[in-house]
Amino acid sequence: MNVLKQLKEFYWHEKKWLFASIFFLMCSTALGLVYPNLLRFLIDDVIRAENYSLVPYIALSVIGVIAVKASFQFLHGFTGGRLGNTVAYNLRNALYSKLQYLAFQYYDRAKTGDLMSRLTADLEAIRQFIGFGFAQVLNVFLMLGFGTIMMLTLSWQLTLVTFVTVPFIAITALRFEKTVHPAFRSVRKAMSNLTTAVQENITGVRTVKSFAREPYEVEKFSHRSEDYKANHITLAFAWAKFFPLMELLSNFCIVLLLTVGGWFVIDGKMTIGELVAFFSVVWYVIAPMRDIGLHINNYTQSKASGERVLEILHQYMHVKDKTGASVLKKDQVQGSVKFEKVTFAYTDKEPALTDFNVDAPAGTVIGLLGPTGAGKSTVIQLLMRAYNIREGRITLDGQDIRDISLTSLREQIALVFQETFLFSSSIRNNIAYSRRDVSMDEIIRAAKLAKAHDFIMELPEGYDTIVGERGMGLSGGQKQRIAIARAFLRDPKILILDDATSAVDMETEHEIQAGFQELMKGRTTFIIAHRISSLKHADQIIVLDHGKIVQRGTHEQLLREPGRYYETYKIQYSDHPSLVKKQIERRLAK
Ligand SMILES: Nc1ncnc2c1ncn2[C@@H]1O[C@H](COP(=O)(O)OP(=O)(O)OP(=O)(O)O)[C@@H](O)[C@H]1O
Ligand SMILES: [Mg+2]
Repeated sequence: MNVLKQLKEFYWHEKKWLFASIFFLMCSTALGLVYPNLLRFLIDDVIRAENYSLVPYIALSVIGVIAVKASFQFLHGFTGGRLGNTVAYNLRNALYSKLQYLAFQYYDRAKTGDLMSRLTADLEAIRQFIGFGFAQVLNVFLMLGFGTIMMLTLSWQLTLVTFVTVPFIAITALRFEKTVHPAFRSVRKAMSNLTTAVQENITGVRTVKSFAREPYEVEKFSHRSEDYKANHITLAFAWAKFFPLMELLSNFCIVLLLTVGGWFVIDGKMTIGELVAFFSVVWYVIAPMRDIGLHINNYTQSKASGERVLEILHQYMHVKDKTGASVLKKDQVQGSVKFEKVTFAYTDKEPALTDFNVDAPAGTVIGLLGPTGAGKSTVIQLLMRAYNIREGRITLDGQDIRDISLTSLREQIALVFQETFLFSSSIRNNIAYSRRDVSMDEIIRAAKLAKAHDFIMELPEGYDTIVGERGMGLSGGQKQRIAIARAFLRDPKILILDDATSAVDMETEHEIQAGFQELMKGRTTFIIAHRISSLKHADQIIVLDHGKIVQRGTHEQLLREPGRYYETYKIQYSDHPSLVKKQIERRLAK
C-alpha cells in the first residue's frame, strides 16, 4: 500500500475514472445476482406453477439484464482502460523526463536493458493493476459479500457446506501461486538473459566477427535458450496441473452441495428453484477463491514494479540547479574559465584529478596533453558540470559554475568528443541538433567549415540521408566532421575539442584545423589531443599525468625543457630526424 501511496500523485487526479470504474464493476457484479433470482422464479413460480403467461416477461427481463450488465462491463472496461493508460502515460513521461535530467553519475552504473524493462514491462504491470487489478481485488470482496448474503437468504445450511469446502480451493490456489510465482520469475529472468545476449551480440557483431567467435556466441545463446525453454516447461507443467486440480476441487464442492441440496429438496426444506439459484450463486464464492492467488500475484508483481519505477523517480539528482541559480545570457558571457585547486574522484579510489589549476582568459586556447587515463576528459566533464567537484572550484567569468543554471551553463559550451553519436535521423537533423531553429543555409555553412559538405553531397540523398542506428554507416572521420559541424552551428563561447580529430587523416586534420582557427576566434577553447600538431598553437599547454599537472607552458617553452612534452614531440616527429636534430641543437644551445 505504501507504493500505491507514493504513486498517488500519478493517479489521484484521475480519481473520477477510478471511482467510475469501480462503480461500474460493482453494478455489473450486483446485477449478476439477478439471474439466480430469475431462475428461481422461472422454475418455482412459472414452470412448477404452470403459469406460462409469465414466460415472455421473464424472457424480456433476462434480455434486459444481459444488456444492462453488458453496458456496465463496457463502461468498466472503458473507464478502467482510460484510467490505466492515463496513469501509465503520466508515469512514463515523468520517468523519461527524470532519466533525461539524471546526472552522468547515474548512467555510469545504469544498465540499458534494465532501464528499458522498467520503462516498459514495469509500467505495463502498473497500468494493468491501477486500471483493472485494483478494481478486481475490490470485486473479490464484493462477490464474496454479495454471494454470501444471497446464499444465506436461500439456505444457511448449504452456505455452511460451501464454506467448509471452498477454503480448500483457496489454499490450493495459494500454494499453486507459491510454486508458480518463482517459476514465472525464472522465466522472465531467462527471457531477459536471452534478450541481453541478442542485444549485445547485435551491437558487438563486428567484434564477434573479427575474432571469429561466432561458434562461441551460438553456443552461449543456445545455453540461454535452453534455460528459457526449461523454465517455461516447468511453468507449463505447473499450469497443466492447476486447472484440472481446480476443476476437481470445484466439482467436489458442487457434488457435495448437490447431495445435501437434493436431500433438502426431497425433504421439502427447499424448492428446486432455490437449489438451482443457489448453484448459480455458488460461483460467486468459488471464482474469487480460485483466483485469489492470481490477484495476490498481480498485486505483488505490480508492487515490485512500482518499487522499481519509484527507485528511478526518487533517484538522487547528483547535479542540479541551486535555488536561485543565475541564468546566463549568451551575449553577456565573456568566456573566461578558471579551475582553482580542483580535486575530483569518480569513485572512492584515487582521484582522477588532483589540485588542478588553470586560468584561461576569454578567447584563449588551452591545450591538454597526456597519456591515456591521465584525466584530460575529466577536466572537460567537470567544466560542463557533468559531475560535482568536492574540492576547489571552477568559475566562468568569475562566477562559480555551481551557481549557474545547468542549462544556461551548457548552452555556452560546444563539445566535439572522441566518439560521435549520431541519431537515427537525417544528416541535416544531426547537424542541427546543437541548435533550435536554424536555416538550411546555416547548416550548409557549418558543414562546409567542418569539411563535411563535400562527402555529404556524395551521399545518396545528400543532407536528407538517414544515418545512425538504422541508417547509413559513416566512417569515423565522417562522423567526427558532422560533430564538428554541430559545434560550428552552436556558436558557443567555450569550445571543447576532445580528441576531435583523432579519426581523420593528417591531411583532413590540416584542412579542418583551418576551420577550427576560424571557429576558435573569440572563444575560449580547450583542445585535447594526442598529436602535438593539433595543439602547438595553444596559448597554454598543460601536460597531465595521473591526474596531476606535470608541465605547462607554450609549445616553444615546453620544447626547451626536458619532460614528457619534449619526449612526445620527439616520438611524433621521429620521421623528421632533421627537425628533431634542429630542436635538440636549439635546446643544447640554451
Ligand atoms: N565515468 C567514470 N567512472 C569512473 N572512473 C572514470 C570514469 N571516467 C573516467 N574514469 C577514470 O578516470 C581517469 C581519467 O580518465 P579520463 O577519461 O579523464 O582520461 P583521459 O586523459 O581523457 O584518457 P584518454 O586519452 O584515453 O581519453 C581514468 O583512470 C579513468 O579510468
Ligand atoms: Mg579522454
